[in-house]
Amino acid sequence: MKIGFWGAGEMAEGILSAIPSKKGVIMAEKRAERAAELKRKYHVSVTSSVVEVAKKADLIFLAVRPVDVAAVAQEVKGFIKPGAVVVSIAAGKSLAFLRRSFGPKVPLIRVMPNLALKAKEGMCAIAPARGVSPDAVKEVEKILGAAGKTVVLAERFFDAVTALSGSGPAYFAYMEKMMAEGAMALGLKADVARLLAEQTMYGTAKYLRESGMDLNKFIAGVCTKGGTTAAGMEHLSKPPFGAAVAKTLAAAAKRSQELGR
Ligand SMILES: NC(=O)c1ccc[n+]([C@@H]2O[C@H](COP(=O)([O-])OP(=O)(O)OC[C@H]3O[C@@H](n4cnc5c(N)ncnc54)[C@H](OP(=O)(O)O)[C@@H]3O)[C@@H](O)[C@H]2O)c1
Repeated sequence: MKIGFWGAGEMAEGILSAIPSKKGVIMAEKRAERAAELKRKYHVSVTSSVVEVAKKADLIFLAVRPVDVAAVAQEVKGFIKPGAVVVSIAAGKSLAFLRRSFGPKVPLIRVMPNLALKAKEGMCAIAPARGVSPDAVKEVEKILGAAGKTVVLAERFFDAVTALSGSGPAYFAYMEKMMAEGAMALGLKADVARLLAEQTMYGTAKYLRESGMDLNKFIAGVCTKGGTTAAGMEHLSKPPFGAAVAKTLAAAAKRSQELGR
């Protein structure tokens, strides 16, 4: 199966870097320096023509910015290899929009990835359009699964997914910054504070994943009565924090819904 990309920016590179055999991959990229960089780094074929990719590839990642999706669709319409599957990672572009843009015959899959793809620890939600073959979905799960975790979900959940895992890296980075700044106020140097905050976040996520522990049980377990964690949680668990997180997700989901219209 020949894999293609329309757009070879940050996210495309994250996906590409996880593909074990890059032989045969073809990418279309506007920026000549970027094309040269990817050719040098991954020995893939990079063209400036989205039509060339459309004609050659069997599974194509649509990885341009959302504002450029309509222009790419316009350019490639009529040139896509029959049966080739288009996998869109463009935020907010619904399957209905993609169907109108590419036409009813093109099998479509919508994906919401996140930036952690670049560290092969991404989170990708996959929503296949009706009628897409299970084999095509499996293939996409395999490719994206090499760059992190995947989940197949109905498209109606995508605003929530966008708010949680799509936008989530910024929220966790903000939490890390706040934790590090809190520790700096207690005397730690910036680099040490960042290391301690980041490793604690990373290690806790890893432990929770590996143990599968119930979150409430875990929190109760580390909050020994009269201890330091309990003293800290006394502040964190009060309403402003939980409410702020809920409002953050709701605002992001609302924006995702607006952009999808
Ligand atoms: N970054 C994230 O955290 C994230 C998370 C979830 C989803 N996404 C989605 O992933 C997609 C890609 O994001 P990104 O951050 O990788 O964007 P990006 O780095 O800007 O990459 C897009 C690339 O496509 C090129 N391009 C645009 N139109 C083209 C055309 N007609 N032919 C060939 N190349 C073309 C752009 O060139 P020019 O710059 O010259 O236009 C740019 O190099 C977006 O739709 C975004 O919504 C991103």
